[in-house]
Amino acid sequence: MNLAFNLANIHNNMTGTNPSVGCLVCKNDKILSYGVTGVGGSPHAEYSALLNLKKSNNLDCYVSLEPCHHQGKNPPCTKSIINKNVKSLYYSDIDNDPRVQGKGLEFLQNNKIKISKISNVYKKNFYAIYNDFSKNFFPKVYAKIATTKNYYSFVKNRPQITNSYSKKLTHILRSEINAILIGVNTHNKDNPLLNCRINGLNLLSPARFIIDPNLRINRNSKLIMSAKKIKTYIFYSDKNNNKINYLKNKNIYPIYLPLNKNKHMDCKEILVTIGLLGYKNVLIEGGYNTIKRFIDLNLIDIFYFFKNNEVISKKTSHSFKNIYMLLEKKFKNKNKLQQVNLKDNTLTVFQK
Ligand SMILES: NC(=O)c1ccc[n+]([C@@H]2O[C@H](COP(=O)([O-])OP(=O)(O)OC[C@H]3O[C@@H](n4cnc5c(N)ncnc54)[C@H](OP(=O)(O)O)[C@@H]3O)[C@@H](O)[C@H]2O)c1
Repeated sequence: MNLAFNLANIHNNMTGTNPSVGCLVCKNDKILSYGVTGVGGSPHAEYSALLNLKKSNNLDCYVSLEPCHHQGKNPPCTKSIINKNVKSLYYSDIDNDPRVQGKGLEFLQNNKIKISKISNVYKKNFYAIYNDFSKNFFPKVYAKIATTKNYYSFVKNRPQITNSYSKKLTHILRSEINAILIGVNTHNKDNPLLNCRINGLNLLSPARFIIDPNLRINRNSKLIMSAKKIKTYIFYSDKNNNKINYLKNKNIYPIYLPLNKNKHMDCKEILVTIGLLGYKNVLIEGGYNTIKRFIDLNLIDIFYFFKNNEVISKKTSHSFKNIYMLLEKKFKNKNKLQQVNLKDNTLTVFQK
């Protein structure tokens, strides 16, 4: 089981909305084959481990998480297990996904496969975030901002204000999360792609969400033109059918959310919607007006604050100083505060 968890760990945070699972197939205490959930979530570990094995007696299967029993993008793993005549299945954690939740084990048991639980003493909280999400469908919320030393997030004629180390970290972070969220001003001003641009991790680009109540989104932006390749959603409140049809034609998914009495979209409702679409975590990448509303409602779990070492004299944007101060006050647990120097940039990670 320890080996199964080590296998699962290889693709941890790289399997999209699916959990990373490790699987070993053994006979007479010898390992015949193994598998791990593929990058992006497919194929499943059990499917990979069993695919090239001949049907045989006395096969033992060790899996870090209960096998799935539903047809999604992948065939149910319970089917592969039965097809290869597995005799005993050892698992460690139950899968809290309502489509699984013990049904996989029950089905295998009904098909005369011996089921045994091996307590997860190896990586105790390995599936904690995944299984928490499966209970309430509320994503874990990350935020990230880059500012000058005196807290401005925009410098004229400079699309990016941090160095290559900070940028690389941002792209790694993007590869590890399922969804990115921005406000419409950031979209219209920066024309961002919001993908992961590290060789080998490009396929792990997260889905993109834009909050745009009045459908002010610029047409033909990089984001719109790339929506065929990367799932892109827009939260809107205005029923401008022309624009909605334009967006749909560009493969964008418009999601209607009404404004509340403060003329805002409810940030919790935004997160619940993202969660119900299956995204376990979301990175809010700005700008100020978007981030501030989530901070005020205490909805951010982890905040990545990058700073360069420039002091700019002209006020060019909102100052993030008040947000930095607020984070210092709200995220008081000093054990969880991390600060790293990235050459002439600093990254402070605030954790709830
Ligand atoms: N350095 C960095 O890391 C970084 C990152 C991102 C952005 N930026 C900079 O930040 C600037 C843009 O920031 P910003 O504060 O002006 O705008 P923003 O946060 O990008 O977008 C704000 C707009 O989004 C809509 N919005 C966001 N949350 C909403 C909610 N809960 N309910 C309803 N509407 C909501 C509103 O649109 P309506 O006005 O239509 O109501 C709001 O005015 C740009 O200059 C960009 O370059 C810097």
